Amino acid sequence: MARNELQTELLKAVKALKGQVVNHDSLSAGIEWKKARRAAVKPVKEDRKTIKTKEELLKDVCQNMADCHLCPLGKTRKNLVFGDGNPDAKIVFVGEAPGADEDEQGLPFVGRAGQLLTDIIVKGMQLQRKDVYICNILKCRPPNNRNPLPDEISKCEPFLKKQLQIISPKIICALGTFAAKTLLNSDIPISALRGRFHLYEGIKLMPTYHPAYLLRNPSAKRPVWEDVQMIMKEINL
Ligand code: URA
Repeated sequence: MARNELQTELLKAVKALKGQVVNHDSLSAGIEWKKARRAAVKPVKEDRKTIKTKEELLKDVCQNMADCHLCPLGKTRKNLVFGDGNPDAKIVFVGEAPGADEDEQGLPFVGRAGQLLTDIIVKGMQLQRKDVYICNILKCRPPNNRNPLPDEISKCEPFLKKQLQIISPKIICALGTFAAKTLLNSDIPISALRGRFHLYEGIKLMPTYHPAYLLRNPSAKRPVWEDVQMIMKEINL
């Protein structure tokens, strides 16, 4: 090989080597960048700490309303009855308002109507109360169990809305006229609403008769059982 050719070949080889060095630098720069990116992603651990469970979120709502006096029932209640059960429940039962037993214990549906609801859940649906979530339209007892007033409903409803948003169940079962009419924003009687699913904020809602109504009208147990069976089918029970 002539000297000139040899020089040219050598130069080419040096240039190629330089190129490799440059490429190597950018490669290691890439590794550095990946490290930096990993470091930036690390705070996810911190973020996780701030992501609350449904149980914690419900507790927050409950604490926010613990001292609620937005309506006059705040003055007459013994206990606020927020709700009870599984925050991850597939089904939420929504009743009307606490009665005397519920006001006393601070828990929903623990009186006579509550026993009937428990039978529907345990004997009918083969579930436990702790598998479902139970709450009411009003969180405080109206004196002498009178019907909820429109102002009481409008003051209390945002808390229920938040509860349902957090739990985000597959099915809501609205127990009785007040629950059905409030959640569906409808004036249609419960007898015409029941027996089919409606939608509440994208969630399937089945209106049915209130357990207290069943105590007075045992013949209404059959349609309630039909409604409950439709719910069970929907959640694969
Ligand atoms: N009736 C209701 O609507 N809710 C209760 O918690 C008890 C009785």
